[in-house]
Amino acid sequence: MASTPVTTTMVVVVVVATVALLMARRSEGIGVNWGTQLSHPLPASTVVQLLRDNGFDKVKLFDAEDAILTALRGSGLQVMVGIPNDMLAGLAAGEKAAEDWVAKNVSKHVNNGVDIRYVAVGNEPFLQTFNGTYLNTTFPAMQSVQAALVKAGLAGQVKVTVPLNADVYQSPTGKPSDGDFRADIHGLMLTIVQFLASTGAPFVANVYPFISLYKDPNFPLDYAFFQGTTSAPVVDGGVTYTNTFDANHDTLVAALRRNGYPNVSITIGEVGWPTDGDANANPQYAHQFNQGFITHIASGQGTPLRPGAPVDAYLFSLIDEDQKSIEPGNFERHWGVFFYDGKPKYPLSLNNSSQQLTPAKGVTYLEKRWCVLKPSVSLGDQKVGDAVSYACGLADCTSLGYKTSCGGLDPKGNVSYALNSYYQVNDQDDRACDFRGIATTTTVDPSAGSCRFIIEIAPTSGSEVAMVTRRRVAVGVVLAVFVYLVESML
Ligand SMILES: *[C@@H]1O[C@H](CO)[C@@H](O)[C@H](O)[C@H]1NC(C)=O
Ligand SMILES: *[C@@H]1O[C@H](CO)[C@@H](O)[C@H](O)[C@H]1NC(C)=O
Ligand SMILES: *[C@@H]1O[C@H](CO)[C@@H](O)[C@H](O)[C@H]1NC(C)=O
Ligand SMILES: *[C@@H]1O[C@H](CO)[C@@H](O)[C@H](O)[C@H]1NC(C)=O
Ligand SMILES: *[C@@H]1O[C@H](CO)[C@@H](O)[C@H](O)[C@H]1NC(C)=O
Ligand SMILES: *[C@@H]1O[C@H](CO)[C@@H](O)[C@H](O)[C@H]1NC(C)=O
Ligand SMILES: *[C@@H]1O[C@H](CO)[C@@H](O)[C@H](O)[C@H]1NC(C)=O
Repeated sequence: MASTPVTTTMVVVVVVATVALLMARRSEGIGVNWGTQLSHPLPASTVVQLLRDNGFDKVKLFDAEDAILTALRGSGLQVMVGIPNDMLAGLAAGEKAAEDWVAKNVSKHVNNGVDIRYVAVGNEPFLQTFNGTYLNTTFPAMQSVQAALVKAGLAGQVKVTVPLNADVYQSPTGKPSDGDFRADIHGLMLTIVQFLASTGAPFVANVYPFISLYKDPNFPLDYAFFQGTTSAPVVDGGVTYTNTFDANHDTLVAALRRNGYPNVSITIGEVGWPTDGDANANPQYAHQFNQGFITHIASGQGTPLRPGAPVDAYLFSLIDEDQKSIEPGNFERHWGVFFYDGKPKYPLSLNNSSQQLTPAKGVTYLEKRWCVLKPSVSLGDQKVGDAVSYACGLADCTSLGYKTSCGGLDPKGNVSYALNSYYQVNDQDDRACDFRGIATTTTVDPSAGSCRFIIEIAPTSGSEVAMVTRRRVAVGVVLAVFVYLVESML
């Protein structure tokens, strides 16, 4: 008698625990993109600690940098390594290149305890702005890498995929259920989807409501967020879409269904909102979007065409990158949920708890010194304009402009901001705060309001030598060019 209830209880406990475990696995935490186009990257070990402290459980890389993969050893983080687009042709050309790449960039690290789960072959290679450059090489490169993984005995644990911009699918009517792949690459997309279906790899799509808003001033702002209501819902049969993310996701689901691949899983490779460099890029909107997104996917409700299905996603991005190309727009260097130094920009809960983002630990900075315009110098001086163009060309002035964090500076503050940015990029080298005599250093922080005059982080030592050396070379080149220019001006 006594034992029966106990047994039943135990069974119930086990079942409940198992279900809880399965659900926990299904609604697994969120991932994040770790880009490295910074003048002063934090040490890889600092970033890995930052990822762990904040409870990220997976990370997506754009390359396979040795220092980073070494730092990820034993971290427990799942890793997607990337292959840059400029390597696609080489990998497509023959098996040898892919075998070398896998040996050096996957097998070695897997053997050392890095949990590599995916190889991202290329990054948005079919973007229309690439003019078809990678159309012929992407799929052959995926096949080569897949063959190399099979040969290395890793195909079971490491899947090959390709992160694609959401412009590879579209809906002619705007209704998600009418989704299909872009006409000019339709056949190629089916070839790739067939490959993903056969290997069990996910379709990786990057989804950017911010860009929709940036490109179309009439895009309804509230449709970008996740409030559950919007002034401009999209009604599709019996379904009403109140946010553009769900509509975009389901356009892809419909495209997969229409072409006979209803079961291919979808991973959101990049999703996020920038905080500076544009009128709609600010911490308030970024918080609203990212928190809304995280809560939305954590709810487990899925999307209308895949109700209840977990949404697997990587935020874009972890840390701001001051050396990214600003061809897409000045916001491009401000996607991080953390600033360049690993400080959180705004409160964000990644797991629906009261726990917010925590900063990077052990970051060391250069001295508290800034470079500013000498108060006596007139703005009309030709040297001022020259200095600003020069500094902004080599450092980062994307926080200056209409409705940006430093948009409220007066004209002299504006100049100082540019000069300081250049000075910090050059590790506060005295020669980088001269500008033909118009600049001077100060220990009084010129920051005002939302505008932060940064102090760069100090160069690191020890195991991070490789990254530092690379940066130093870059800095040296910049300085050399500067000294040359100054001399030629005199
Ligand atoms: C949420 O994540 C933080 C950071 O990893 C962790 O400290 C906290 O325990 C987590 N809370 C829950 C409820 O999972
Ligand atoms: C490993 O990857 C890096 C970065 O993508 C690349 O530069 C290097 O050539 C790769 N190694 C081999 C052997 O292909
Ligand atoms: C694509 O073509 C346009 C117009 O011909 C050109 O301006 C642009 O530089 C090209 N882009 C690439 C990546 O080749
Ligand atoms: C891709 O291949 C097609 C057909 O062979 C060819 O016409 C086209 O020029 C190639 N494109 C590139 C960018 O190499
Ligand atoms: C998709 O998955 C469902 C449920 O597992 C299965 O019944 C169906 O046959 C699959 N469809 C395809 C095309 O694989
Ligand atoms: C998040 O937490 C709140 C209260 O803390 C709770 O009401 C809500 O159901 C949770 N959401 C999810 C998706 O767990
Ligand atoms: C400050 O500099 C930015 C970028 O050079 C420029 O767009 C803006 O108009 C300037 N503002 C003032 C007040 O001079």
